[in-house]
Amino acid sequence: MVDALGVAVVGFGWMGRVHTQAYARVRHHYPHLALRPELVTVAEEVPGRAEEAAAQFGFASTARDWREVAADPRVGAVSITAPNFLHREIGVAMAEAGKHIWIEKPVGLGPEDARAVADAVAGSGVQGAVGFNYRNAPAVEAARDLIASGEIGTVTHVRVRLFSDYAAHPEGALTWRYERERGGSGVLGDLASHGADLARFLLGDIASLTADTAVFLPERARPAGATAGHSRATGGEVGPVENEDYVSCLLRFASGARGVLEACRVSVGEQNNYGFEVHGTEGAVFWDFRRMNELGVSRGASYQDQPVSTVYVGPGDGEFGAFQPGAANAMGYDDLKVIEAYRFLRSVAEGVPYGATLADAVHSAVVLDAMARSAESGAWVTVGGPGVL
Ligand SMILES: NC(=O)c1ccc[n+]([C@@H]2O[C@H](COP(=O)([O-])OP(=O)(O)OC[C@H]3O[C@@H](n4cnc5c(N)ncnc54)[C@H](O)[C@@H]3O)[C@@H](O)[C@H]2O)c1
Repeated sequence: MVDALGVAVVGFGWMGRVHTQAYARVRHHYPHLALRPELVTVAEEVPGRAEEAAAQFGFASTARDWREVAADPRVGAVSITAPNFLHREIGVAMAEAGKHIWIEKPVGLGPEDARAVADAVAGSGVQGAVGFNYRNAPAVEAARDLIASGEIGTVTHVRVRLFSDYAAHPEGALTWRYERERGGSGVLGDLASHGADLARFLLGDIASLTADTAVFLPERARPAGATAGHSRATGGEVGPVENEDYVSCLLRFASGARGVLEACRVSVGEQNNYGFEVHGTEGAVFWDFRRMNELGVSRGASYQDQPVSTVYVGPGDGEFGAFQPGAANAMGYDDLKVIEAYRFLRSVAEGVPYGATLADAVHSAVVLDAMARSAESGAWVTVGGPGVL
């Protein structure tokens, strides 16, 4: 018996669209899922955008104000894909209204916001999933298993990189992303949040760190009208970029391993150059998002001149088997969101969490906050500690 679950999407930019497509596809890949998501309503503040989404994807209704979604008895679960400054207010309100939430990273403007949403979810007994999609890549899960099995020996150090050019164009509009009040941090929340989550997913807790940040494009033109994604603006009033374009960070893990995390949103010539290199005493494992279904693996007993093999993930790795019948049939970015939708809906169906949760969002936010504090003071900062997480 498959029950219907009414779902809503709040904020129909890039992520709103991807969440909607994931709901539409999830049962194609997971026919045994005990819930059938039904697109009940979509809320958007830009006039016409919700209506367009409803016409294209089949939402039964639309709303201008997300509060209508919180009060809608047809809605059992909500995707919160609005800008960061709205995550806390909407996340808390939806959880308190008894709606399960699938909320985008970084979950608010800082650790207090992420904690408030986590507390509301725990207090209301609903499920809360978070959009740390890169950890859903089957190759990333395979890398984690490989590391945990000891096949590369004891992990010594890791390098995590997230380089992008999405903000590199000088005519990139001054959207919410570049404002403290609406975006919070810059590349920290946008990209390093994924990096902090990946580092912890692979190697465990980060104990301390020191970071440096920089703004390389200090001014941008304000957009003339509504924006979605990374819009361009020319000729408009120019305003200041209030948050960082770049971060570099040295990490010490609780395990004793060392790490480097570097992220930049204005790297000309870099398109989604996201990945990691994990080194151990007997081997290494390499992943590059642009070749999402491959791992570079070096293992053996040679230590020196030990070869690196390309391993294509296959049906035995993570959720690969739900998408492709054999190794080296490529999966793509949107598939990671289908996996996230599956884990979210399975959590709702079974009442126990699968995949990234709000606790993971709090961990990531605490790490980012430590980076920001270190960048200001120039000092090493202890991450977490009693009562912090
Ligand atoms: N997991 C990922 O890989 C990933 C990638 C991109 C963005 N994100 C996250 O997703 C969120 C949205 O990012 P995006 O790139 O889709 O942004 P976007 O600007 O493309 O979309 C945001 C949408 O929210 C709408 N909106 C703003 N205020 C609203 C309100 N009060 N009520 C309803 N709708 C409102 C905007 O009009 C816009 O359509 C951000 O938190 C971002 O960090 C995650």
